[in-house]
Amino acid sequence: MKKSTISIDKHFVVGEVDKRIYGSFIEHLGRAVYEGIYQPGSPFADEQGLRKDVMELIQKLNVPIVRYPGGNFVSGYHWEDGVGPKNERPEKIDLAWNVIETNQFGLNEFMDWSKKADTSAMMAVNLGTRGVEDAKNIVEYCNLKGGSYYSDLRRKHGYENPHDIKLWCLGNEMDGPWQMGHKTAGEYGRLAAEAGRIMKMVDPSIELVACGSSSLYMDTFGSWEDTVLSECYDQVDYLSLHQYYGNAENNTPEFLASTVAMDKFISSVISICDSVKAKKRKNKSIHLSFDEWNVWYHSHEQDQKLERWCKAPHQLEDIYNFEDALLVAGMMITMLRHADRVKVACLAQLVNVIAPIMTSDTGAWMQTIFYPFALISNHGRGTVLNTIVDTPVYETKHGDAPYLDCVCMMNEEEDTLTVFAVNKDLDSSMEVTCDLRQFADYRVKEHIVLTHSDLKAINTEEQPENVAPVKVDNARMDNGILSAVLCDKSFHVITLGK
Ligand code: AHR
Repeated sequence: MKKSTISIDKHFVVGEVDKRIYGSFIEHLGRAVYEGIYQPGSPFADEQGLRKDVMELIQKLNVPIVRYPGGNFVSGYHWEDGVGPKNERPEKIDLAWNVIETNQFGLNEFMDWSKKADTSAMMAVNLGTRGVEDAKNIVEYCNLKGGSYYSDLRRKHGYENPHDIKLWCLGNEMDGPWQMGHKTAGEYGRLAAEAGRIMKMVDPSIELVACGSSSLYMDTFGSWEDTVLSECYDQVDYLSLHQYYGNAENNTPEFLASTVAMDKFISSVISICDSVKAKKRKNKSIHLSFDEWNVWYHSHEQDQKLERWCKAPHQLEDIYNFEDALLVAGMMITMLRHADRVKVACLAQLVNVIAPIMTSDTGAWMQTIFYPFALISNHGRGTVLNTIVDTPVYETKHGDAPYLDCVCMMNEEEDTLTVFAVNKDLDSSMEVTCDLRQFADYRVKEHIVLTHSDLKAINTEEQPENVAPVKVDNARMDNGILSAVLCDKSFHVITLGK
């Protein structure tokens, strides 16, 4: 059995968790909107056609923000097509995903849905095929009370009160050559600065996210962040990061080591933000919005065969397995370890499209990745402690990968301490100890584990709990020392309290 030691001190904190780190994403793509959250005529739909069964599952995930309406989709989108009487809305081609967008669901329906789903919107504007003027208009439509053309248009559409959307994305993946209206860093930085300046003139209370790199592996990574921020530092509050991982080579130890790459990505972006801050002699820091992250590769081959111009096809429908769930847990732990700078994050996406929740005409169910997300989102509120982990490592293409990914969190309001840990060892258990004499009056209240003998095990509509967490009794406190045995290939949530 391998051994690891965790060291924490309740005074050595990384930072308060911003609950928006548990965000997600709904794009007009595949069956995310249509058949995912909106399906008029379904026995599960409410009077607005919104699927109640899906909402219930989303509430279990405890998602405080949802990014909308894209993604690549937003870079060709006219938000005006999706508001007003439904019978007057145009059907248009969407060149991001080569489909027809019916516009039967749009901005106002999304805002209604987000209220019912107990979440709030993170709205993206089109800086691909559109620009400053349209970015101004949508903020006016959403956030002004009335007395102007666009705010009165919203009222005419039946929404008397402003939507009051606080968080806005200045475009999507503008560094990507696949993006409609793709730009150089200089072009995008100027546009983001001007769009952001005008949007904040309309509503100074909003916060803005500028596009960072679409992945750590973009050729422009680094110089993109530097140039963009050099142009729009004053106007923006966050810089975005996007990253998806896959296991196409079927090498699980390498796949699980993706957290090492993610950690480097985050640290590098922080360094660049701070270097621009230093060069500009600013007091304000730019925080990070990891607004697309997940596993994405299972559906690639199938999606190559899709016919063009259909409506809401099965697209990007990755069926997740147990090892994907382990990586999702590891990715969340990695972001929590940077809670002082990663303030927003969105699991991409939420329903049907690379998603924790799947739907059919007969129901909705939870994929494997649903569980680590729900467990960490529900237990991971409070303060992240600087968690020093002394653990064996293994060699990977990303560098040495620790067998144990771990972070500890303290919740003073609830008087609890929570340990999130992934044992990446595929063959042997890990004995973990942690000196908790500062919490000597705490006892182990709960130990939850997500594990499975088959790394490729999946959940289906018929067997939604094939991979699901269970409660175990493998952790104990003795004289202020926590010790736990973490079985091979497993994710753990250990909660201590009085
Ligand atoms: O989430 C799927 C797609 O991935 C998004 O539309 C895009 O932003 C990214 O490339």
